Amino acid sequence: MKTVAITGTSRGLGLALTRTFLTNGWQVIAIGRHLPDASTTLNVRIEQCDLANGAAIRAVAANLRDVKIDVLINNAGVYDAVSVDENDATTDTTKLANVFQVNTIAPKLLSELLVPNVQAGEDKLIISITSGMGTYAEFDTYHAKHWAYSASKAALNYAMVSFAELHPDIKTALVSPGWMQTSMGGSDAVIRPEESAEAIYDLVANHPKKLLNAGIVDYTGRKMDF
Ligand SMILES: NC(=O)c1ccc[n+]([C@@H]2O[C@H](COP(=O)([O-])OP(=O)(O)OC[C@H]3O[C@@H](n4cnc5c(N)ncnc54)[C@H](OP(=O)(O)O)[C@@H]3O)[C@@H](O)[C@H]2O)c1
Repeated sequence: MKTVAITGTSRGLGLALTRTFLTNGWQVIAIGRHLPDASTTLNVRIEQCDLANGAAIRAVAANLRDVKIDVLINNAGVYDAVSVDENDATTDTTKLANVFQVNTIAPKLLSELLVPNVQAGEDKLIISITSGMGTYAEFDTYHAKHWAYSASKAALNYAMVSFAELHPDIKTALVSPGWMQTSMGGSDAVIRPEESAEAIYDLVANHPKKLLNAGIVDYTGRKMDF
């Protein structure tokens, strides 16, 4: 049985990915603050972790010592503010730091700590969920107003391309999941997280053909520019 480790599995895309991988016969290591709901717990190993806390991330990696991980998906993320009218979007330094900790630092740190686990796996694949908002190619005024989230995803892209450079034996891919109807994406979004999760599963299952090392694709496999 193959094993995927997924961060942020309590809701949204992470929960949908958890269900999709379980349906396809994988074991899931769920890493996050809250647990996936009870219906998904068969074949799920829970690793409770606040990804804003470096010591907690190190503790998870220690718990997982000698556990083979075929695929790691860095999915957990936070938005900077629901509205750019909120002062929090630009002036609350504690909230700003949390955005970079969860969206940028945690995926890079967790990936580094789990290198031996991924090297022991079959696929040797790490996916980090990014966003078009983190690309210069799609830069616009809305992204500029939500600069903290956008910059954290641009920094994630840089961090994981750096990871790819330093770990050529591991395939390191960035995937943009589309605008999804989740608590982050809101109800006006264009796809359900389940659709994105199915498509991302297909990218994983066919990763030799469909995923770029050190590159970004969207959930349909379309190449994106940084
Ligand atoms: N929704 C979109 O339209 C969209 C578009 C582009 C990219 N993305 C990206 O897709 C990914 C999933 O987004 P989503 O829409 O599914 O978001 P979501 O519904 O808001 O879920 C976010 C997940 O991240 C977890 N998380 C947040 N802070 C955490 C922390 N400190 N420690 C541990 N877990 C934490 C949450 O867990 P808790 O329940 O504990 O808070 C939750 O499971 C994110 O990386 C996001 O940036 C989303």
